Amino acid sequence: MQDDDGDGQRIPAVEALIARMTLEEKVGQMSQRAYFAHDREEALEAVRAGRVGSFLNVPDPATRNELQRLAVEQSRLGIPLVFGRDVIHGYRTIFPIVLGQAASFDPELVEAAAAVAASEAAAVGIDWTFAPMIDVSRDPRWGRIAESPGEDPHLTAVMGAAMVRGFQGSDPAAPDRIAACAKHYVGYGAAEAGKDYNTTYIPDGLLHETYLPPYRACVEAGVLSVMTAFNDLNGVPATGNEPLVRGVLKGEWGFRGVVVSDWASMTEMINHGYCADLRAVAQTALRAGVDLEMATHAYRDCLPALAEDGTADTARVDDAVRRVLELKHRLGLFARPYTTDYAPQEPTSRALKVAKELALRSLVLLTNDDGALPLSADVESIAVVGPLADDPNEQLGCWAFDGIRDRTVTVVQALRERVGDRTTIQYVPGLTSPLDTSRAGFVEAVAAATAADVTIVVLGETADLSGECHSRAFLDFPGAQVELLERLAATGRPIVLVVFAGRPLVLGRVLEHANAVVYAWHPGTMGGPAIVDVLFGDESPSGRLPVTFPRAVGQIPIYHAFKNTGRPPTTGFRGIPAGTPLDPEGFETSYLDLEVSPEFPFGFGMSYATIKYSELVLEPSHAPVGHPIQVHVTVENTGTRVVDEVVQVYLRDLVGSVTRPVRELKAFRRVRVEPGQRRRIQIELDATAFEFVGLDLKRVTEPGRFHVFVGGDSTADLCAELELV
Ligand code: GLC
Repeated sequence: MQDDDGDGQRIPAVEALIARMTLEEKVGQMSQRAYFAHDREEALEAVRAGRVGSFLNVPDPATRNELQRLAVEQSRLGIPLVFGRDVIHGYRTIFPIVLGQAASFDPELVEAAAAVAASEAAAVGIDWTFAPMIDVSRDPRWGRIAESPGEDPHLTAVMGAAMVRGFQGSDPAAPDRIAACAKHYVGYGAAEAGKDYNTTYIPDGLLHETYLPPYRACVEAGVLSVMTAFNDLNGVPATGNEPLVRGVLKGEWGFRGVVVSDWASMTEMINHGYCADLRAVAQTALRAGVDLEMATHAYRDCLPALAEDGTADTARVDDAVRRVLELKHRLGLFARPYTTDYAPQEPTSRALKVAKELALRSLVLLTNDDGALPLSADVESIAVVGPLADDPNEQLGCWAFDGIRDRTVTVVQALRERVGDRTTIQYVPGLTSPLDTSRAGFVEAVAAATAADVTIVVLGETADLSGECHSRAFLDFPGAQVELLERLAATGRPIVLVVFAGRPLVLGRVLEHANAVVYAWHPGTMGGPAIVDVLFGDESPSGRLPVTFPRAVGQIPIYHAFKNTGRPPTTGFRGIPAGTPLDPEGFETSYLDLEVSPEFPFGFGMSYATIKYSELVLEPSHAPVGHPIQVHVTVENTGTRVVDEVVQVYLRDLVGSVTRPVRELKAFRRVRVEPGQRRRIQIELDATAFEFVGLDLKRVTEPGRFHVFVGGDSTADLCAELELV
């Protein structure tokens, strides 16, 4: 097979370097070593000998420069190292977890946050982040849903591309930019039963329709690297999948960056029963198109011999080395290999401003009975209950190990800062941690709630109940948190619940015990001030759910882009019937013991105003296939407060050669609407919006009737019909 460069633009200095490299030096560039203090001497020797081209998890700028000096000044060819780190949702300043960022439906702000993260990471010599994670996730049991933009391929693609732009900028060699890495290619989020690292079976049509598009969007946004996944995908481990890596990513899409394996995902192909030994691992990964091996040594230990005996294609070795060297060139590492010996820096005021703004826009108001929120400015006493209300660590969420904990502003701190001595604030944790099952703290908490005008309860998950290898079989609130909430509600005093979580939880009866519920995900460094601003109405909540909330684990997978089936539910939940009627009346897609609808649908979120949609017009409403369609709608704020509304456009292709979902998000836009204002919004659906993946796996638009729905969530029923001919 022709090497994947084709006639891609080559860098002469790289070509000249490749011509001078020995096979061992080439393989060295294909090895990324995890830095551990305990094997430091071995690492130094490997660098000196040119047996390693990259590190991850180097602890500080000084160590980085020490390794770099060895590479540049003592190895034979002086090729600089490239240093990677997981900067997932912030480096020193921590932003909301990515699932929360997606809830903002604000790609510009997400891009700004990634740019802040890049500048903080670049300042200490990190050249490359292993982000954005863009695995479409439809199973809240899966702990890594926290790191993902959620269930929808369009939203995931938009957010992934925004993060790539934020991390890399227009010149990744700039001193405040870093290389991005779209991960985990591909299908990792479809892990069976939500168990991390578990097997995935994804039919080709679904793979090309749902899981691949976010990666294509990141490649089109110029992402400099892609990471292959752990999972067995339809019987072939993703890290050894030549058709998808070398075929689709590098071949069809023309990706010219670096493909890096995930941690040990190469050698794990032995566990998968796909490779017999390390030689087979090296051969399989090279053939598949993996350019750089993370953390293990199959390439180092086996590739030279495989190349010498002709088993491994040396043109593919050169292609891999070329990609790694080109990455280093694009990052300016040949020209400026060293970083300043910065000590970890404090967040700037701009970083904190972006962190607060993104946290604000990530908050989703789920319920607000009788206008319990916003709180009155002259409330005299507030009780705050729940250990998460004042925990600078848990608030940051998963993948936040570099975050500055002492800059976290918690809900309690933010409240006290805001109300000063005007309002009495009494904080009673009630539990020692969210996992605590003791009731010992309840009496004091109940007393505080009884005495206060209103009680703010902050409950949910600790940071490490989501993230990698942190899947859950239940989606409930850990510990005795729900019982604590019930005891507080029994006082009859107003209760506002704020939920910290890395996933949708099954809320159930929790919803009955609070007058209002705000879902805050894990909101990051400035989560406290953002939450307090929303509770007091300085800002109206504007977040929208990037993932469907199930009523029960038994409903999973549940998502908005479902198929109609031959028996769509139309008669509503009927409960368990006495006997089984013979006539098929009411025999529909359903459960006996639970209604099929979700607790909260994708795209849902309330604000402090009432928004009305009307006057939906498609222009044209009858057009040839391939013609863009302008969607016009009037959005009216009938409330008394200015709000940001996320206008969402969903499509249903009524008939197709492959059955089509009843709803698919195709476009969205945040718009600010003043009280009483009627805004006429126009959103374009370009020709690609009407495409789907046919049985031949090619994207196609078929003539016929389409329904376009516009509104504030995926159940929007304002509809207009379109005919494409
Ligand atoms: C981990 C994760 C991956 C991360 C890498 C380096 O196992 O799967 O997302 O970037 O290893 O830490």
